[in-house]
Amino acid sequence: MDFDKNLISEFEGYFGRKPSVISRAPGRLEILGNHTDYNEGFVLSCAVSCAVTVVMAENDLDVCRLRDPKYDKDAVYTFSLDNIDTAIPGDWTNYVKGVIVELRKRGKDVKNFDALLYNTVPMSAGMSSSAALEVGFSFAFKELFGLEFTNEEWAKIGQGVENNYMGLKTGLLDQFSSIFGKKNALILSDFRTVEVLRTVEVPSGYSFVVANSMVKHDLVDSEYNVRREDCENAAKKLNPVYAGAKTLRDITPAQLEESKSLLSINEYKRAAHVVGECDRVKQAVSALDQGDVATFGKLLFESHESSRVNFENSTVELDYLVELAKSLDGCLGARLSGGGFGGISIHLVENSKIADYTSKLAAAFKLQVGVDPQIIVCEIGQGAEAIKL
Ligand code: GLA
Repeated sequence: MDFDKNLISEFEGYFGRKPSVISRAPGRLEILGNHTDYNEGFVLSCAVSCAVTVVMAENDLDVCRLRDPKYDKDAVYTFSLDNIDTAIPGDWTNYVKGVIVELRKRGKDVKNFDALLYNTVPMSAGMSSSAALEVGFSFAFKELFGLEFTNEEWAKIGQGVENNYMGLKTGLLDQFSSIFGKKNALILSDFRTVEVLRTVEVPSGYSFVVANSMVKHDLVDSEYNVRREDCENAAKKLNPVYAGAKTLRDITPAQLEESKSLLSINEYKRAAHVVGECDRVKQAVSALDQGDVATFGKLLFESHESSRVNFENSTVELDYLVELAKSLDGCLGARLSGGGFGGISIHLVENSKIADYTSKLAAAFKLQVGVDPQIIVCEIGQGAEAIKL
């Protein structure tokens, strides 16, 4: 495992002894398959090289101590393991405490510990910094306290933190991608069987560029839960018509059109997005297998259009980034990525044109929106790991 050796000496500087374990959990990019995970559908995703790194050791105090010097170099965050049942609004240590609560539900526990973390995943942007935090701490606990779960279960532990501790009814995509990501490849996942079906090659000569719109809606959590409810209600109404259809994953685009009148307008639009996304993921995999990058790019643009019109999880800033992508040379496709309602867009760009493309994109966005977008040329990284030191 590659890691920055300075973290070990920093830990020693703060806590006066050596750490025992180190873990690293990456952020992720959702490449295609928006809001399909909790509908038991398909997603193309990857882990990125930005990650949360955690160094940890047991302590003999009666509290746990956390430090995140990049976030606040002087702050020490402490909590007692006897007092972690409820999340404290706005406190990032919730993502750590939530993991312990989920472990306890599964009959396991941790002892008091000291931890130092270092995060390079952009926060609240749609690259799953919270999942990276959950998985980073989960894997550190696994190594330090000898906790045994399958990787699928570790992903569910992280998802449990979001669903039960934070009250956000997210699917499994973020933790799953952080754990199962493969260096330099996309993974195609099936969220019914909860497995990686296969890896898919990134077209050679192209990279994914992230452009962060720098805007996040306040109501994103409640919007997310409402979208999920609409999808589940649509599936319930379609179930009696199509025997065996348990979730929107089981509905084809043609069936949805046929039964449109059974659904409210919002249920129909949300379902059209999800059903369309599942279909686009399958089309994308076959295009990529044939080396047809143009079709893959077109599918990315279609996905964004469906987000804008059907799922209504885009924003004017994201729409603008995608419009720019259509007009600038070098980009084959772009879309919002992740939950939406702000955050990032991804752009499939020819390697030889990246410098020119990103500088024009950033300048036009600044002119229109008034802020510099954060631009990251993404390296596709390996999934989470942990070792004893
Ligand atoms: C967020 C959620 C994921 C997934 C995406 C949208 O990232 O955490 O579970 O639903 O949005 O695809």
